[in-house]
Amino acid sequence: MLLNGHETFGWGTIILHWMIALLILGLIVLGFIMVRPDIDPELQFSLYQWHKSFGMTVLALSVIRVIWWLTNRHPASVKGLSPLEARSASAVHLLLLAMTIAVPLAGWAVASTSTLGIPTLVFNRVLVPHLPLRPSAEAEAFWTTTHALLAYGMGGLVVLHMVAAFHHEFIRRDGVLSRMIRGSLGKR
Ligand code: HEM
Ligand code: HEM
Repeated sequence: MLLNGHETFGWGTIILHWMIALLILGLIVLGFIMVRPDIDPELQFSLYQWHKSFGMTVLALSVIRVIWWLTNRHPASVKGLSPLEARSASAVHLLLLAMTIAVPLAGWAVASTSTLGIPTLVFNRVLVPHLPLRPSAEAEAFWTTTHALLAYGMGGLVVLHMVAAFHHEFIRRDGVLSRMIRGSLGKR
């Protein structure tokens, strides 16, 4: 099924979830490596362009994801969760959804305020205009720090989210992870 059911995730949600998750994990590693001062400048330039291209891809997919989330049914929580657990899981999910938009937007602001004025040419094909922000060293420094803090903050949240997913799958054995892979809780 494409759409979510009462207790199941549809393919739409599953594909968007794992594509965005893989891209974000890759972008955090790529971002961390590309800002090292000791790498070859030519390689560094090219890594920045890949980072911006995949980052804008995440932004586009995340906008679709948020619309999908707002217009789709939310499957019921698995049985056995306390109200506090169910509420904290929803809060982390909402925060993650917000971060998937905020982190690339802040990255876009870095590219837009940079005094170098390098265009964002997604995969060397699609020119993305800069945000209407005035380029200056101060603005670039502000957005660089904001982007890094948000990105690593999101990384921490993802680790928490993964630990919870593995705890459910291997300790509680309630099918939470299977539901995000196969759609349904399966036979327990
Ligand atoms: C950047 C990475 C990730 C982001 C932004 C993210 C975001 C989200 C969001 C927003 C939901 C809520 C789904 C909804 O209500 O439609 C969710 C659910 C879920 N995620 Fe992730 N996720 C990420 C990575 C991961 C990873 C690496 C795992 C596992 C190893 C994972 C496992 C799950 C599971 C099992 C659920 C279903 C929870 C439930 O049934 O309540 N996620 N994720
Ligand atoms: C979810 C998407 C994204 C993630 C997870 C991400 C993550 C990161 C990380 C971890 C860094 C390294 C921070 C540091 O250690 O200082 C970084 C740097 C950077 N990112 Fe992103 N990024 C994303 C999207 C974008 C987008 C869309 C753009 C621009 C269009 C962008 C532009 C940049 C730039 C220019 C830097 C280097 C800043 C500097 O020179 O210090 N990022 N990003």
